[in-house]
Amino acid sequence: TNPKVLLTRTLPPASQNILENSSDIELFHWKDDTVIPRHELLRRVSGVNGILCMLTEKIDAEVLDAAGPSLKVVSTMSVGYDHVDINELRKRNISLGYTPEVLTEATADLTVLLVLASTRRLREGIKTVENGEWSDWSPTGMLGTQLTNKTIGIVGLGRIGEATAFRLKPFLGTDGKIIYYSPTEKKRSVILGAKRVEFDSLLEKSDIICICCSLNEKTKEMFNYSVFKKMKKNVILVNTARGSIIKQDDLVRALSEGLIGAVGLDVTTPEPLDRNHPLLKFPNVTIVPHTGSATLETRTLMGNLAVENVLCGVRGLSLPNAVCSETLK
Ligand code: GLV
Ligand code: GLV
Repeated sequence: TNPKVLLTRTLPPASQNILENSSDIELFHWKDDTVIPRHELLRRVSGVNGILCMLTEKIDAEVLDAAGPSLKVVSTMSVGYDHVDINELRKRNISLGYTPEVLTEATADLTVLLVLASTRRLREGIKTVENGEWSDWSPTGMLGTQLTNKTIGIVGLGRIGEATAFRLKPFLGTDGKIIYYSPTEKKRSVILGAKRVEFDSLLEKSDIICICCSLNEKTKEMFNYSVFKKMKKNVILVNTARGSIIKQDDLVRALSEGLIGAVGLDVTTPEPLDRNHPLLKFPNVTIVPHTGSATLETRTLMGNLAVENVLCGVRGLSLPNAVCSETLK
């Protein structure tokens, strides 16, 4: 019998077609355009050989047990895989595929967008115009801050952090600086002219901080109240990585106390936030709905890669993009 693949969401059309035209697999497709409810996931996963999931599905021991010993591969259509319990996969000898690189450019673009939106008060400006509150041009109206000669701190100089830094560099002029915090020295930082610094030093020196690292035990709630207190007053903070890298209640407190100039977020905890969440009430906080990779081009490439990963996995081949395949073996 053909290998069974559970697909938890409809992919971009080109990627969906590849999967549907793969005649050597049996496809189980959650067709509602909604996040598959947990009980449906647990029920439908039983006996499948591969799962193609999104970052909205928690893939833990319970799901893997529900799938049973037939499961060979989990392929997530995302670069982040904090929603997947990698230790549980390793124990069961299940491969994990993800979609790095193809979304680097799109996510870096969105990071720059949030930096500019935050420094130039885009949300407030649009609101003022839409509400008919903009009465006239004023020499001191809606003043933001300029990037020229500023210091940008990148937390996590991986693919996305680096692409973000390269994009922001031309905005900085001759006296601006890029510094970064990373557990390891990054080779390409030399071309970038970026200096590696300790975390505390990045907090003290940066006018703009971009969070571009992955979420793990070390980065979870790395940005908490004591960290916010060390940052420059009026700092611009942008997070396009994962919501829980920031301790969100502490962010609300820091904003209430005026410790932060402006914040741009592509990610929150949870997603979406409740309509009455205090974060939505600050005019200097811009939140977009986790759209870092949301271009047609990028999502198609992500979908194609996720399809390739799952197909290779169920066919017993090595995955084009596996997470630590060496340790999973
Ligand atoms: C999006 O957040 C991703 O991890 O791909
Ligand atoms: C994510 O893919 C990163 O390396 O930044």
